Amino acid sequence: MVEMARWILRNNDRGGYTVPARGLYPFQWLWDSGFTALGWATFDPERAWLELRTLFRGQWLNGFLPHIVFHSEDPGYFPGPEIWGVDHQPQTTGLTQPPFLAPVVLHLLQRDPDRPRALREARYLYPRLLALHTFLHRYRDPEGTGLVGVLHPWETGMDNSPAWDVPLARVPEGPLPPFQRRDLVHVPGEQRPREEDYRRYLYLVLAYRSRGYDPETCYREAPFLVADIGFNAILLYADEALARLAEILGEESKQPLAWLHRGLAAIEALWNEKAGLYHSLDLRLGVPIPQDTSAGFLPLLLPLPRPRVLKMRKALGRFAQGTTYLLPSVPPHDPAFEPRRYWRGPVWPPVNYLLALGLRRHGLLDEASQLEADFVALVEQAGFREYFNPLTGEGLGGKEFSWTAALYLALLD
Ligand code: GLC
Repeated sequence: MVEMARWILRNNDRGGYTVPARGLYPFQWLWDSGFTALGWATFDPERAWLELRTLFRGQWLNGFLPHIVFHSEDPGYFPGPEIWGVDHQPQTTGLTQPPFLAPVVLHLLQRDPDRPRALREARYLYPRLLALHTFLHRYRDPEGTGLVGVLHPWETGMDNSPAWDVPLARVPEGPLPPFQRRDLVHVPGEQRPREEDYRRYLYLVLAYRSRGYDPETCYREAPFLVADIGFNAILLYADEALARLAEILGEESKQPLAWLHRGLAAIEALWNEKAGLYHSLDLRLGVPIPQDTSAGFLPLLLPLPRPRVLKMRKALGRFAQGTTYLLPSVPPHDPAFEPRRYWRGPVWPPVNYLLALGLRRHGLLDEASQLEADFVALVEQAGFREYFNPLTGEGLGGKEFSWTAALYLALLD
């Protein structure tokens, strides 16, 4: 299995970047690169650093880091560069994704046996990470509330989570120019987002494109604006890692620490006592989105008071009741649960990985091991698939998937 996982990464390597899956996702994706680098690090640290260097070739002058870098052409993918219309070389999208990068750089720096190389690479990446975090805190939280907003479900990395149903329903389905989805060529429609959701995704893309991707205008006029608990938890976890990197590299850690502390106070508003987990916030209406999803546990990545952690541990048990494998993206007893459809039920490797990190941080070792063991079991019986049915263990979505292979390697390491 380890050989197979390494083979998948090599086979998905396009010379400096790793495609998430051949055919289905033929470019470089932001948070996939972070997870993939963790896998490369277990057998080829130099290649792990290169993954991140290559990703930052897509960074814009204002610090923004897009969620896809189109290093090469591929007519098999939609929406490609001509739909995004971004003026940058290499071409990119105009949306971002959860910035799970500074924790990866910290991890690589700590484990690379070649210390001079590691310091060199970390010094190259540090100012780029700082620029990205500065962009997010400045332009996605213009009033300095401590919560950053996402402008599109794609920015959350959890594209069709039921948490986005209500805010997305306010987004028009058109008008749109004629288009043809390409994802359905690779994966059955019942495992992918529905048509009406897809139309709204595209409407949003064109709305931001028509505003020239200007960050202030886009935030102000966004038809979809949500403080995603997953995105915010990952950003704060990354702020903490950035502060640690600053200390190691002899840089100033005050700013990242200030972001972290402001954010920790702000996410309190997203805590739901009854559910025992966090919810996202609809920033357009100023109301919480009362939908339990696996993202609601990601604040476990952060320092939290003990009673809070214990409450979340209990909620985790309730959340997963009725499943064979941890962790479903939506609880099986929830009306929105669909065990095979993308982010509406299946188990997703990066979530198991992140949550296990968080549980370990708080000393909940049994729960962490369970999440890891279930992920390993799923892979060993169903293969390196994109996501899995939490009831049956069936493998779903893309095959020979990079983050699945990489996280398998990282966990066994
Ligand atoms: C899907 C996932 C997203 C991931 C991308 C590439 O869009 O929802 O999280 O980054 O595929 O794997």
